[in-house]
Amino acid sequence: MAKIFGDTEIDIVTVSKELRNGGIVAVPTETVYGLACDALNENSCKKIFEIKERPFIDPLIIHVLDISAAKDLAYFNDIAEKLAEKFWPGPLTIVLQKNPLVSNIITANRNTVAIRSPSHPLLRKLLAQSKIPLAAPSANPFGYISPTSANHVQDSLGDKIDYIIDGGECEIGLESTIIDLSDESFPTLLRTGSISTKEISKCINLPIIEIDTKNNLVAEGAPAPGLLKNHYSPHTPLILLDFNLPCQKKIDEQDAVVLFNKSNKQAISDHKNLFWLTEKGDLSEAAHNLYNLLRNLDNKNFNKIFFEKVPNSDLGKAINDRLEKAQNS
Ligand code: TXA
Ligand code: MG
Repeated sequence: MAKIFGDTEIDIVTVSKELRNGGIVAVPTETVYGLACDALNENSCKKIFEIKERPFIDPLIIHVLDISAAKDLAYFNDIAEKLAEKFWPGPLTIVLQKNPLVSNIITANRNTVAIRSPSHPLLRKLLAQSKIPLAAPSANPFGYISPTSANHVQDSLGDKIDYIIDGGECEIGLESTIIDLSDESFPTLLRTGSISTKEISKCINLPIIEIDTKNNLVAEGAPAPGLLKNHYSPHTPLILLDFNLPCQKKIDEQDAVVLFNKSNKQAISDHKNLFWLTEKGDLSEAAHNLYNLLRNLDNKNFNKIFFEKVPNSDLGKAINDRLEKAQNS
C-alpha cells in the first residue's frame, strides 16, 4: 500500500526531491487527484502510462506554477495569454503548439501539448519547491472513475505507487475544461469542465467550436484525446434516466437509483436503495459529490445503477458528459 502524507505531515522538500529524482507521487488538485512525475523525465512518464494501464496514444497534461513556466514548454498566442491570465491558477487546460523540449511520450507524438496551472495550495508548493513541470493524468486506472480523495487513489492504485499526498477532498470534483488553442483562429473545446464555453468565449471575444463527442475519431484513426466515448466508468452497469421525467425503466430490488436532488420527487422515490447527488439541488455540490458517490455505489454489489441526469446548464453539461461516458454501452 502507498504511504499517505496528510496536510501537516508532508515534507515538501523531501517529496520535491523524490519527484526530481524520477519518483511518482499522487497529488491533490482542485479538480481530481493526479499521478505526478517530472514532465521532462521520459522514463517516469512511461511509468505513469504503465501504472494507469493507459494506452500510449492518450497524451498527458503538464502542470506548471505559472504562465512563465508554461512558456518554456509551449508557444503561446494572444488568446492563450488572455485565458491563462484570467483563469490560471485554476481548472483550465490549454492545448498549444509544443516546444521541442517536451517529450513525444507526453504528447503521444502530437505537435501540441496540454498545460494547466493548478490552484491547489499543496500542489503549488510542490511546483514551487521542485522547480520542475509535473506531468499528471488523473490518478485512476485507465477508463475508471477519477479520484477525488486520497483514499480513492489508495483503493485503486495503492499497490502500484509509493506516495500519496492527502490534500483533502477535491473542491470541484470534475476534471479541468480543455480548450485547444493550437490554431488560434479555431478555439476548440476538447473537454467540458467547471469553466464554461460561455466564460471562455466572453474572455477572448471569439466563438468556441464544440466537437461532437459522439463522433470522436480524428483523421489518423486514433481517438481524439479527451473525447473517448467510454470513460469514468464504474464496473457496475450504469443506466441514465432523463432529468425530472417519469422513469420508464424496469428497476429491481438489487439496483441502486440516484436522483439529482433530494427533494426531486418521482414515482421511484420510494425505491429501497435510493441516493441523491445533492441535498439542495446545487450543481457545484453535485459535481463535488459525483465521483465519490459513483465509487461508493460501485463497491456495494448492486446489479445496476440507475442515474438521473442533472439539469443541462453550464456545470450540469460537464456532469452529464461524464455520466454519458460512464454509461457502459
Ligand atoms: O483536471 C484535470 O485536468 C486532471 C488533474 C489531475 O489536473 N487531469 C486530467 O488528466 O484529467 P487526464 O490525463 O486524465 O486527462 C487529460 C486529457 C486526456 O483526455 C488527454 O487525451 C487530453 O487531456 N490531452 C492531453 N494532451 C492533449 C493534447 N496535446 N491534445 C489534445 N488533448 C490532450
Ligand atoms: Mg483521466
